[in-house]
Amino acid sequence: MYKLFFRLFFTRMDPEQAHHLAFRWIRLAARVPVLRTFLAAALAPRYKELRTEAFGLRMHGPFGLAAGFDKNAVAIDGMAMLGFDHVEIGTVTGEPQPGNPRKRLFRLVQDRALINRMGFNNDGSAAVAARLHARVPVFRTVVGVNIGKTKVVPEAEAAADYVKSTERLARHADYLVVNVSSPNTPGLRNLQATQSLRPLLTAVREAADRTVTDRRVPLLVKIAPDLADEDVDAVADLAVELGLDGIIATNTTIAREGLKSPARLTGETGGLSGAPLKERSLEVLRRLYARVGDRITLVGVGGVENAEDAWQRILAGATLVQGYSAFVYEGPFYARAVHKGLAARLNASPYATLAEAVGADTRKAAV
Ligand SMILES: Cc1cc2nc3c(=O)[nH]c(=O)nc-3n(C[C@H](O)[C@H](O)[C@H](O)COP(=O)(O)O)c2cc1C
Repeated sequence: MYKLFFRLFFTRMDPEQAHHLAFRWIRLAARVPVLRTFLAAALAPRYKELRTEAFGLRMHGPFGLAAGFDKNAVAIDGMAMLGFDHVEIGTVTGEPQPGNPRKRLFRLVQDRALINRMGFNNDGSAAVAARLHARVPVFRTVVGVNIGKTKVVPEAEAAADYVKSTERLARHADYLVVNVSSPNTPGLRNLQATQSLRPLLTAVREAADRTVTDRRVPLLVKIAPDLADEDVDAVADLAVELGLDGIIATNTTIAREGLKSPARLTGETGGLSGAPLKERSLEVLRRLYARVGDRITLVGVGGVENAEDAWQRILAGATLVQGYSAFVYEGPFYARAVHKGLAARLNASPYATLAEAVGADTRKAAV
C-alpha cells in the first residue's frame, strides 16, 4: 500500500515538501491520543528478547532513527509511535541557520538512495533546548542530541560553538553526539583529524560535566564513511584514550560509485545515503569493532534497509543500529519490520541474547 502510495504521490512531489508533509501527518497523529495508542500498538510492538542496554541507557530494542529527520526535536513521540526505540534529534548548531538554498534534497529511486545538501537547517541550540525542556513525553524513548558547527563560525572557533550547544542541550540529552562528518558544512569534516578532534571532544566533555552534575551524559562521535582506514583507526584510538562512550558509523558519503540513477541526479553535490552506502559503512563498523572491541559502544548506520541489514550490523559489532533513507522508501512499517525480523533472527541464532551476538562475526573473522 505504502509503496503504491509512494509511487503515485510522493515521487511526484519535491522530496523536501514530501518530507514536511509526512512529518506533519506523523506529528498530528501523535497528538491524538486514540490514534497514537492504536498506531503504537500496531507499529511499535515490543520484543522482550530485543531489550538492549547501551552506554547505561535501557531501550526496548536496538533500532532507532538517525539524525537529520527530526532536526528540531518536534516529533520525538511521533517517531517513537512508529517503532523507533531511540530518536536522535539534530543536527543542532550553536546558532539558528536556514541551511543551503533549495533544492537541496534529491531522491535516487533506482538506487534506493538520497542525496542531500541540507546544510544543518535548524532552529539553533537555544530554541531546541527550550523545546526539549517544555516537552512532556508520551512514550518512553531514548533521545539523543546531535550537535554540529554553525556555518558562519570559523573552523578555528568551532569548539566554542559546540560548547555553547552542549551547555544548552546536554541536560536534555540521554546521549550527546558530536557530529564532525556532514559533507555539507564547509570544513566540518576536517575536525575529524585527531589534532582537531582531541581538543574538541575534551571541551565538549568538560562542558557536559560542568552543566549536568547529577549524571554523566554519554558522549559519542559520528564519523564519515570517506575516512581512510588509518584515519578510522586513529579516531577509534582517540575515542578509547578519551573515554568516549560511543562511535556512530557512518554519516553520508561524497562517493558516487556504482549508481544507476541518471547523471542529472548523481551529479548533485551533497551526501549520498541509502543502499549504496551499505557496504562501506558496514566495513567501517567492522574495522572499528576489530580495533575497540567492547571498550566502546558502536552504532551502525548507513544503508540499513531491513532486518537482515540490521542483524549484519549487530554481528559486525553494533550495539545500536539506525536508519533514515530506507524509512522514506519503506514507509511507516519500516521500524516494525526491522524489530520483528531481528527478533526472529536472534531466536534462530546460537546466541542467547542480543548482547552475545554483538560483534560475533568480527570476532570469528579475527580468530
Ligand atoms: C536528508 C538527510 C539529512 C541528514 N541530516 C543529518 C544531520 O543533520 N546530522 C547527521 O549527523 N546526519 C544527518 N544525516 C545522515 C543520517 O543520519 C545517516 O547517517 C545517513 O543518512 C546514513 O543512513 P541511511 O543510509 O539509513 O540514510 C542526514 C541524512 C539525510 C538523508
